[in-house]
Amino acid sequence: MADKYTQLVSQGLGKDLAKRLGLPQPVELRRYSAGAPLVTGPVLVSGDSPGADDIATTLLGWGLDVRRNALPKEKLGAIVLVLDAVQHPDDLAKPVLTAGSSLRDLAVNARVVTISRTADSAQSPASAAARQGIDGFLRSLAKELRAGATANGILLADDLATTSPSALGALRFFLSGRSAYVDGQFLTVSSTKGIMPGDPEKPLAGKVAVVTGAARGIGAAIARTLHRDGATVVAVDIPAAGDHLARVANEVRGTALQLDISRDDAGHRIIEHAVERHGRLDIVVHNAGITRDRLLANMDEGRWRSVIAVNIAAQLRINEALLASEHFKDSPRIVSVASTSGIAGNRGQTNYGASKGGVIGMVRSTADHMEPFGGTINAVAPGFIETEMTAKMPFAIREAARRLNSLKQGGQPQDVAEAIAFLASDAAGGITGGVLRVCGQQLVGA
Ligand SMILES: NC(=O)c1ccc[n+]([C@@H]2O[C@H](COP(=O)([O-])OP(=O)(O)OC[C@H]3O[C@@H](n4cnc5c(N)ncnc54)[C@H](O)[C@@H]3O)[C@@H](O)[C@H]2O)c1
Repeated sequence: MADKYTQLVSQGLGKDLAKRLGLPQPVELRRYSAGAPLVTGPVLVSGDSPGADDIATTLLGWGLDVRRNALPKEKLGAIVLVLDAVQHPDDLAKPVLTAGSSLRDLAVNARVVTISRTADSAQSPASAAARQGIDGFLRSLAKELRAGATANGILLADDLATTSPSALGALRFFLSGRSAYVDGQFLTVSSTKGIMPGDPEKPLAGKVAVVTGAARGIGAAIARTLHRDGATVVAVDIPAAGDHLARVANEVRGTALQLDISRDDAGHRIIEHAVERHGRLDIVVHNAGITRDRLLANMDEGRWRSVIAVNIAAQLRINEALLASEHFKDSPRIVSVASTSGIAGNRGQTNYGASKGGVIGMVRSTADHMEPFGGTINAVAPGFIETEMTAKMPFAIREAARRLNSLKQGGQPQDVAEAIAFLASDAAGGITGGVLRVCGQQLVGA
């Protein structure tokens, strides 16, 4: 559901007025709905490497209307720019300018996706320059697109084909309505471990997933989305949120676990509940989080300690229990909710920023511990999301925060949930230790 301003400037007089006054003109984003096409309109696959040919063949197999050369004046649903073979910054000009000449023909809510290689693994300075150049290119391009269109990139390790399973999983995610509020971001695929789901509409079929902080807001949306994708959900929240928690658990036909995640035995309780009630545990989503904002000059110990305790110390302790458990060894997934405040910083949130930066550090370090049994751990960092938390912000600050991103609007809890559902799926098995921002490409900060 778009905010009131977005509704006002989407049609009629409001649209004309906003255009004339140069006001932001957000459009209603294309979000996932069951049975809707992956992309609306033809897909241009640009690039002349064998990897580009393989991508074109795969997209044809997905039933998409694929072009290797754009037709004049045809509205494109997406451009996939395959740059896996670039060796020098000079190599970028041709594919990039060819794609650029089609940008005016992008449909509303279109997608641009680059596929290239990680700069860290480059064998020469020129190759590293070309690969890292794609990072700056993509993020700049995302800021140029309009009308709900987004640009995101997939980074492949050197030995991976463009059609390795998690590369295709990431491509489907970026092309689809599931990535509506992800813009100017990269997903790194480091191994061939992903498996594409048999049924793309039920990628989590047979999985048991725990979601903390599930009684409301983003957590409730995560519970609904994982259920929609086929998972059995254990909804966790504090006893004081018991009524709301029971409602969400009933709605998703899962079970409720009343638990303060900062308790010493929280990890044990989560594993015990999942295994006793549902026979297994595959996915843990660390979503529960709190804010206790104060400028550092006014910060008391209680505010500092409580935010660290819930937002990061609890996750560390629960992960220790998960990693030690025999019930969490079958290609399990952990997805942790960070925040752009932990990346770019936010005035009044030194405690929160420390806790969310901590989540990112924890995720990077834990990836190696999950790898031996095919497990992955990733973080999702939301920007401005329309929730009870952000509804309480003063009007002017809220309105500014909402518009200061490339999509000129706040995200929905659903948008965060979609990114988590993707990272929790088998298709994302080759993606680990990373952070995916769901922020509409926030324009302030890093
Ligand atoms: N709303 C945003 O714009 C935004 C932006 C960035 C990150 N986030 C993060 O997303 C997550 C969810 O945010 P939200 O906006 O839905 O918040 P919210 O306050 O609406 O919901 C958080 C839930 O966590 C539960 N919770 C708190 N402490 C707990 C504990 N000790 N044990 C168990 N449950 C506990 C609460 O009862 C509540 O149901 C948080 O980690 C938050 O930091 C939110």
